[in-house]
Amino acid sequence: MAAPYASAEEIDKLVENVNVASKAFKAESGRGTEDARRKLQVEATKLLYSLQEPNTEVWPRIFQVNQSAAIEVITQMGLWSKFEDGKILLLKDIISTTGADEVMIIRIFRQLVAANVLSDVPGPGYKITPLGAPYLNPDHAAFSSFVFTEILPSILSLPRNLSTRNYKAPSKDSGSPYKWANGEELWTYLGSHPERALNMVNGMRSLHTGSLETNAYPFAEELAKMDIKDGEVAIVDVAGGQGHIMAEVRRTCPEIKGKFIVQDLASTFEAVAAPPEGIEYMAYDMFTPQPVKGAHVYHYRHIFHDWSDGDCSSFLQQLVPLLKEQPGSKLLLVDLVLPNTDVSMQECVRDLSMFPIGGLERNEGQWRELLEKNRLKIKKIWRGTEPEACVECEVL
Ligand SMILES: C[S@@+](CC[C@H](N)C(=O)[O-])C[C@H]1O[C@@H](n2cnc3c(N)ncnc32)[C@H](O)[C@@H]1O
Repeated sequence: MAAPYASAEEIDKLVENVNVASKAFKAESGRGTEDARRKLQVEATKLLYSLQEPNTEVWPRIFQVNQSAAIEVITQMGLWSKFEDGKILLLKDIISTTGADEVMIIRIFRQLVAANVLSDVPGPGYKITPLGAPYLNPDHAAFSSFVFTEILPSILSLPRNLSTRNYKAPSKDSGSPYKWANGEELWTYLGSHPERALNMVNGMRSLHTGSLETNAYPFAEELAKMDIKDGEVAIVDVAGGQGHIMAEVRRTCPEIKGKFIVQDLASTFEAVAAPPEGIEYMAYDMFTPQPVKGAHVYHYRHIFHDWSDGDCSSFLQQLVPLLKEQPGSKLLLVDLVLPNTDVSMQECVRDLSMFPIGGLERNEGQWRELLEKNRLKIKKIWRGTEPEACVECEVL
């Protein structure tokens, strides 16, 4: 049997690759910074993996879900906020406020200390680490709860589902794995279960790494070129949730004139008293003809990745005829554009996590193929610091 560890020569080569990527990162100061950082992360991760003893990694790998469960327990107990401002949470206080058994708290928290989400402190007690800090944001905690409750069960049944369906990708006709498990699609299920929809809606605010700022597409500069007048529709954000992204564009680009319309299923708007300032809501099912004619921009963010090519084509065809009549209108699709090779763990995770609802993340070739089927092509792929790119399309 081969030695379990990578050889010193192999490690040396990986260190060299890290150094090359680090130099490229240091030399980059413009819009390529994030790409260079990502390449450095990929090389550093390969180095880290080479230092691990392969046999000992089998158990932690299959049981990564333990971390998800431990995070969900802490959310359920409402304990994240107790770590605000670097506060230490003493074990005895957790036990007295929650009534939990000490042994359970120790075992759950120990899992997150090992994952570097919390750290042990004398007391005994716990403190949040930089990796745990995102959970202080209730939107991140809501996102984790949403995934834990709605998505993970279908991931766990992925091998069984694929084998019984001969390893075919879910399609509009077959329905999604979520539907196989729950009898209906996620979006209609959430429509009739508002208490479960809340975690999804709040969670959608957390997908950006720390900030909602959408900087891949320079809205202010590009829309200034369109000479938008008051009273015209500047942007229609199709399936835009409760308008958090458009509110952010309004905040960061106050100079953009015209209306911002956020369309989504009526149930999405029911939980909020009013739209954010400067935003109008419009209940709309995107599988029906687009009612807003003459908008300068039609924007879809985190929508294409929710659906198969067949479904994306169905809702794109509700818009493409309009775009043909309105050559000045822009179509912007904001989602990941995966690299062809060396896809990072974060990107892979985001891709496969779309499987339960029948969606997928696409690389550039997959985007081209989907768009061409709909008589569209890529005009430009815009990138900023967020993981999502903005695919600007034009009619063929
Ligand atoms: C992943 S969320 C993205 C929300 C928002 N665009 C964002 O970037 O955070 C998907 C959204 O699609 C909406 N949606 C699902 N099916 C829809 C349909 N048939 N018509 C309109 N919106 C729909 C959901 O209600 C949800 O708000």
